[in-house]
Amino acid sequence: MNIGIVGTGYVGIVSGCCFAEEGNSVICYDIDEEKIRSYSVCKSPIFEPGLKELLKKNIAEKRLSFTTDIKELVNSSEIIFICVGTPPMNDGSADLSQVEAAVRAIAENSPKNSYKIIVEKSTVPVGTHMHLKTITKLYNKGKSRFDFVVNSEFLKEGNAIADFMNPDRIVIGVETDRARDTLLKLYECFDTKKLVVDPSSAEIIKYASNSFLAMKISFINMVADLCEKTGGDIENISQGLGYDGRIGRSFLDAGIGYGGSCFPKDVKAFIKVMEEHLVDSSLIKSVDNFNSIRYKKIISILQDELWILKNKEIALWGLAFKPETDDIREAPSINIVRELLNMEAKVSLYDPKAEENFRKIFPQSQNVRYEAEPLKALENCEALVILTEWEEFRKIDPCDIYSALALPIVIDGRNIFPSDKMKELEFRYFPIGKGVILRDMRNSK
Ligand code: UGA
Repeated sequence: MNIGIVGTGYVGIVSGCCFAEEGNSVICYDIDEEKIRSYSVCKSPIFEPGLKELLKKNIAEKRLSFTTDIKELVNSSEIIFICVGTPPMNDGSADLSQVEAAVRAIAENSPKNSYKIIVEKSTVPVGTHMHLKTITKLYNKGKSRFDFVVNSEFLKEGNAIADFMNPDRIVIGVETDRARDTLLKLYECFDTKKLVVDPSSAEIIKYASNSFLAMKISFINMVADLCEKTGGDIENISQGLGYDGRIGRSFLDAGIGYGGSCFPKDVKAFIKVMEEHLVDSSLIKSVDNFNSIRYKKIISILQDELWILKNKEIALWGLAFKPETDDIREAPSINIVRELLNMEAKVSLYDPKAEENFRKIFPQSQNVRYEAEPLKALENCEALVILTEWEEFRKIDPCDIYSALALPIVIDGRNIFPSDKMKELEFRYFPIGKGVILRDMRNSK
């Protein structure tokens, strides 16, 4: 099939590469000329495992091309996926101006008597498809025929290609048989559950999925806080909960809170949608409030341990919001570094992939140093804080951490080290939600 992708962020570029890999002819459009130039020569401005290889292969086999000319895309595509950003506005609601602009451009450039299927892949509030219909009517002036489909994407950064190729489900929100049959044909080779619903349901499924997962994370983080006060090990508890098929084990890893370009933004936007429709949103609002101050936990442990932080150097491992990505959007590391610098502490930073992006917010300075090796980042530091569970951190021998740090204090925001071993080595070790250990250590202080 001939597919057009508008917007080459994470969702757009991954969808484009994967549809091409499945044998479709795909053209990707973006207003950002630099991005398009870069993709055209097989260079990806974002790091995502496997993406470069797919780009290279599908460009070489002539199934994947790039353009900054929307007319070219519209002329050659029967199905056009809208994959542009929907960033948050000041009040938390989703800014839909990029979606509107994309659909308007498609409407204005669609040839007379043509038929196009416009697919919303961007995450948008319920009812957006109705506005898009109106926009196309307005700017196309009845020259062409359009069908609208809502087909949200559920891929996770860092695992995006595998998630796209092997999804848990494909949700298709449609109003006409023609659009339904075309989308089902496109996804024919994907062996998974396909749910065909009305467009409003499809729009809500996306926000509700992200908000529900965010709720699971905040819930387990709340229980972790209880464990720290009463005793109990959050990993045992997650397992105990997870064995209940109704609950499930995934997204019950306690930590320093969720970040990224999706959960924080989508939870806020979902709240806004509920408020607009006078629906009680208090449940999901507390998820958002709880998560937005979770990073302070790290600061308070540091203050408990080191008292005055001014002029003390703290090492931080893991700046990305999660492993296997260089994305730092809404990463807990940003708030933590900002707060430490406000307190006139110094930070020594290491991340396998996200350093370049982090430097754009926190350039190297007297109080901010970047190191290319995790152990080197520990030199002269009075504590290590682990913020992202990169696999390479798990492989580091804790004895080497002990030798490199000036004081053996480790705050493990992602529970990557075995607590018993850390205790045996006489670290002052602060994992998340391991109350027994914490109490034992406090008693022996
Ligand atoms: C999320 C959803 O998982 C995807 O299904 C969705 O398609 C995507 O948003 C989107 O809307 O585009 P993503 O933000 O890439 O994907 O990353 P996740 O793996 O969901 O992680 C989000 C945050 O939650 C990370 O900061 C992660 O560290 C945190 N998390 C995740 C936990 O703290 N505990 C967990 O058990 C799981």
